[in-house]
Amino acid sequence: RLGLKTNFIGKNVHYEESVESTQKIAHRLAYDNAPEGTVIIAEEQVSGRGRMDRKWHSPKYTGVWMSIILRPNIPLPKAPQLTLLAAVAIVQAIEDLTDLLPEIKWPNDILIRGKKVTGILTELEAEADRINSVIIGIGINVNPTIEDFPSELQEIATSLFVEKGEKVSRSDLIKRIFMNLEKLYLLYLEEGFLPIKLLWEGYAISIGRKITARTLSNSITGTAQGITDDGVLIMVDDHGKTHHVYSADIEL
Ligand code: BTN
Repeated sequence: RLGLKTNFIGKNVHYEESVESTQKIAHRLAYDNAPEGTVIIAEEQVSGRGRMDRKWHSPKYTGVWMSIILRPNIPLPKAPQLTLLAAVAIVQAIEDLTDLLPEIKWPNDILIRGKKVTGILTELEAEADRINSVIIGIGINVNPTIEDFPSELQEIATSLFVEKGEKVSRSDLIKRIFMNLEKLYLLYLEEGFLPIKLLWEGYAISIGRKITARTLSNSITGTAQGITDDGVLIMVDDHGKTHHVYSADIEL
């Protein structure tokens, strides 16, 4: 129905009008042995989930809310690499379809002019130390106006429509993401993370800048040096001490 040019990503699409969260459905399908590349797309999520237990605002018809099931044969600690890979695939899709210049804020926020247009939530199904599946949840604000966002988001969020001044076809966007994701994922499986890391660094805004990384229990201020080969953020604080940050919110 989408007229796809991919071999596995998006070949098996579950399309829903309204769901609690596409992540929840993806977990169930992954458990039931859905093939790699299975995608769940919904027009609306009534309890869309963000990182760190936050909600993700997912109103009807204006966004892309989807979850993609991958089954890479990689060690557990490497799973965060796939979040960075997905971010590159989405940034490239936005560049392919618009003249906008999206940037990536580690680990996985996509910003345009400093405001968030996309969030990515990667979750794992693992048994012992083996990955069974990686579920990549992608939320993109495509066509809402700024008034469509709840007031508390209007300062920090944006949409492709708001930035471009024209509607963007959601199905074209989804198709580009599937194509880019499949290409990058195959490259990753062949050649490892290095080529992905180089692409990612080309879009990253946090690197080389003074930032604060906040987790639920802790916060570190320092300069972001780069990412490790596993996709972990390296920071050096004002005392010269190096920190490896696995998961946090970054303030620029
Ligand atoms: C974040 O930035 O906090 C991540 C947001 C991820 C939102 C997407 S929308 C599709 C998928 N289903 C969910 O419930 N969440 C993810």
